[in-house]
Amino acid sequence: MITEKDFVFTTITNAIEKGNFQWSAPSNIALVKYWGKKDQQIPANPSISFTLNHCKTITKLAFAKKHFDTSPSLSTSLLSVTTDTFSFDLLFEGKPKEDFKPKIQKFFERIEKYCPYLKDYHFTIDTENTFPHSSGIASSASGMAALAMNIMSLEKELSRNFGTEMTEDFFYQKASFLARLGSGSACRSIKGNIVVWGNHAEIEGSSDLFGVEFPAKIHENFKNYQDTILLVDKGEKQVSSTVGHDLMHNHPFAEQRFAQAHDNLAKIKIIFETGNLDEFIQIVESEALTLHAMMMTSLPYFILMKPNTLEIINTIWKFRTETKIPICFTLDAGANVHILYPENVREHVLQFIKDELVGYCQNGNYICDTIGNGSQILT
Ligand code: DP6
Repeated sequence: MITEKDFVFTTITNAIEKGNFQWSAPSNIALVKYWGKKDQQIPANPSISFTLNHCKTITKLAFAKKHFDTSPSLSTSLLSVTTDTFSFDLLFEGKPKEDFKPKIQKFFERIEKYCPYLKDYHFTIDTENTFPHSSGIASSASGMAALAMNIMSLEKELSRNFGTEMTEDFFYQKASFLARLGSGSACRSIKGNIVVWGNHAEIEGSSDLFGVEFPAKIHENFKNYQDTILLVDKGEKQVSSTVGHDLMHNHPFAEQRFAQAHDNLAKIKIIFETGNLDEFIQIVESEALTLHAMMMTSLPYFILMKPNTLEIINTIWKFRTETKIPICFTLDAGANVHILYPENVREHVLQFIKDELVGYCQNGNYICDTIGNGSQILT
């Protein structure tokens, strides 16, 4: 079994002077939700998600080796301060963005043990999203995934320089492992169109440490599955996910919820094989409502849905009953609604959204996405 020790980079080399990489990584939408975590970003239960295609972060990582003045005149304490800090500039859409830096600093601190070469370099991280910044779409998953991919490209080069060729499996596994340490759900944004994260008895290869591509058969019904994201509330998140996950400690329903996630994942595995859309709908909607039920029943408690979230849900249910078209909704830890449906009903559903749901979206905004394949190298 793979353990966290396998991800510690031990090669002694920093022989590359400078360079840059650029990766894109998508957002993902969980079907069985991750809500609750232990120390070191270990999930309290396994989760599974669809990888998105269009909603992504594009990040360029430029790196240059630090050079230290080792002349005796320089005090050793000053030298150790300089060598012992992470050094990076952060640009968002080409402009310096100071308020993103603490998150990156924390990420570097968490992954330093596994990537000891980080302090040898000065980095310029230049990042942008394909979706509007304040859309309420979580950029932490795609953002941390894109950064992790870039760091792994650097590590791969360092290994190569030392004469070791990194395997592709290790490359993606460690990228997911690192992304997890940045933001749990980010580990599901690395590779594959359906990704499982967290140990599950019936999912071969599943791990708490990184995401794995769903390893079993997937029915045609789920090919090119569609996700239209209705932007109900673009405001700042009411509850950060870290605070939200913490609320599952001592939560009165926690144990049952974690057991339910295991059950739902076992069921969804069979559904992916049989293509039963009615059962798919039931699990996905129940998972979304359970996530919100957990928030409503924690202390302190929160209601993250807005009146328009409920209007949309009720309108979807009415449409589904009347037309028998297999669409369903899911929610993140916010008010926006993801509408999931098979590709063959796309035209019909998009017309329904235009006719009946756009009015509930802030400024009429929604984003059409589909299942995608994960991160991509651009440079
Ligand atoms: C509701 O991955 O954002 O979207 O690990 O604290 O960064 P951190 O949390 P995060 O939590 C996502 C929670 C969720 C459900 C899910 O994506 O599974």
